[in-house]
Amino acid sequence: MTMKTPRNYHITTFGCQMNKADSERMAGILDDMGFTFVEDPDDADIIVYNTCTIRDNAEQKVYSYLGKQAKRKHQTPELTLVVAGCVAQQEGEALMRRVPELDLVLGPQHANRLQDLLEQVFDGNQVVATEPIHIMEDITKPRRDSDISAWVNVIYGCNERCTYCVVPNVRGTEQSRMPEAIRAEMEELGRAGYKEVTLLGQNIDAYGRDLPGVTPEGRNKYNFTDLLYYVHDVPGIERIRFATSHPRYFTERLIAACAELPKVCEHFHIPFQSGDNDILKAMARGYTQEKYRRIVDKIRHYLPDAAISADAIVGFPGETEAQFENTLKLVDDIGFDQLNTAAYSPRPGTAAAKMENEISEEVKKDRLQRLNHLVATKAAERSQRYYNRIEEVLVEGVNPKDASQVMGRTRGNRLTFFKGDLDTLRGKIVPVQITEVRAFSLTGEALVPAAVG
Ligand code: SAH
Ligand code: SF4
Ligand code: F3S
Repeated sequence: MTMKTPRNYHITTFGCQMNKADSERMAGILDDMGFTFVEDPDDADIIVYNTCTIRDNAEQKVYSYLGKQAKRKHQTPELTLVVAGCVAQQEGEALMRRVPELDLVLGPQHANRLQDLLEQVFDGNQVVATEPIHIMEDITKPRRDSDISAWVNVIYGCNERCTYCVVPNVRGTEQSRMPEAIRAEMEELGRAGYKEVTLLGQNIDAYGRDLPGVTPEGRNKYNFTDLLYYVHDVPGIERIRFATSHPRYFTERLIAACAELPKVCEHFHIPFQSGDNDILKAMARGYTQEKYRRIVDKIRHYLPDAAISADAIVGFPGETEAQFENTLKLVDDIGFDQLNTAAYSPRPGTAAAKMENEISEEVKKDRLQRLNHLVATKAAERSQRYYNRIEEVLVEGVNPKDASQVMGRTRGNRLTFFKGDLDTLRGKIVPVQITEVRAFSLTGEALVPAAVG
């Protein structure tokens, strides 16, 4: 390597949990290379933008950040500018042409190769790494943002073809990690004092489809339910979460496992996208709203108190008012604990982007507002059930709005605040009696504070 002095790096992460996990791995690699993390990109000699292109506004945000640093590079030519993630994969060479100041463009599958690629840059090359590859098991320790709760990748990529979505184009085909590697990573986290693990995949319940073998019952030899049984007793890890579930692969066996395994938290994130069957068909989601309702009924049969969250899109091409109202109806009937809502955004290279019956921005905005209003009302109703109850809260930090309070999450993933001292409570699971409920958060009082010190 032709590098002179130790240098500073900065990473800004956009987008979803996959990107956050990738950024933590890239930061681990940069630490390993002897660089030092800095908060302020203006103090950095290497800047990595780990980008998202799920909607147009996410993509545009990246260009404005990049523009500013490209300018700085004219005064500071030794600045190394890197674009990683989904915009990098989508645009590839075109991104280099658009922003010639860039040194490295790397797709998500190449995150683990950052050292290699940077060394090529330091040798004087402009590098684009976007070809599909087999994602290698990574031996570098990620630099994790939290020392209490960690992400663990389980399956990369997506084999679906939802007509609105860029993810399959930018994340590639499904690649499951071997159970042994997943468990080994969790064991190391347990040893390092982590309390919670969130297993990650675009469609985590599709885990194992790409690995060889079938069981005598005809299931894939490797599947997500068996993976949960295989990892749930990792010492030190007290909570296991997972996201995201796809209704197409979600099974009763998985729900039963969640009910049986004490560390698996009662929270399911299962996007439905639309409550209208014709729209679901046009989206190529592979299920009906009736099927989705049956999944929720099954969850509530096994785990009556389970928290259920989802994603939904309004204003898909051709969506009529009546079809949108079917989404409202589903949300009203089910009562989600949380719902991520978005206005449809046409994405390059997707089938829906070629559809002609696009909904006006005005109508999309109106539908989004109406849906969000209903979501908040229903979430507030769902929060009521916590009132006066005792919830287990894993303490992670301090309430940014009130330094006398700590904050953490309940098993159902509700953000909860209560009076207490972070130094004594950090990383502890504290029984908290809930005294105030809001749509998306709770306030309470710790029980037996002496016992948790
Ligand atoms: N794999 C997950 C979702 C990953 S993308 C699943 O299938 O459920 C995260 C969310 O972004 C999606 O659930 C969807 O609601 C939203 N999204 C994806 N493409 C979009 C688009 N073109 N316009 C608006 N929202 C979109
Ligand atoms: Fe996108 Fe559909 Fe894959 Fe989810 S399942 S990432 S929405 S293509
Ligand atoms: Fe965005 Fe890529 Fe995630 S497009 S939502 S960062 S998979």
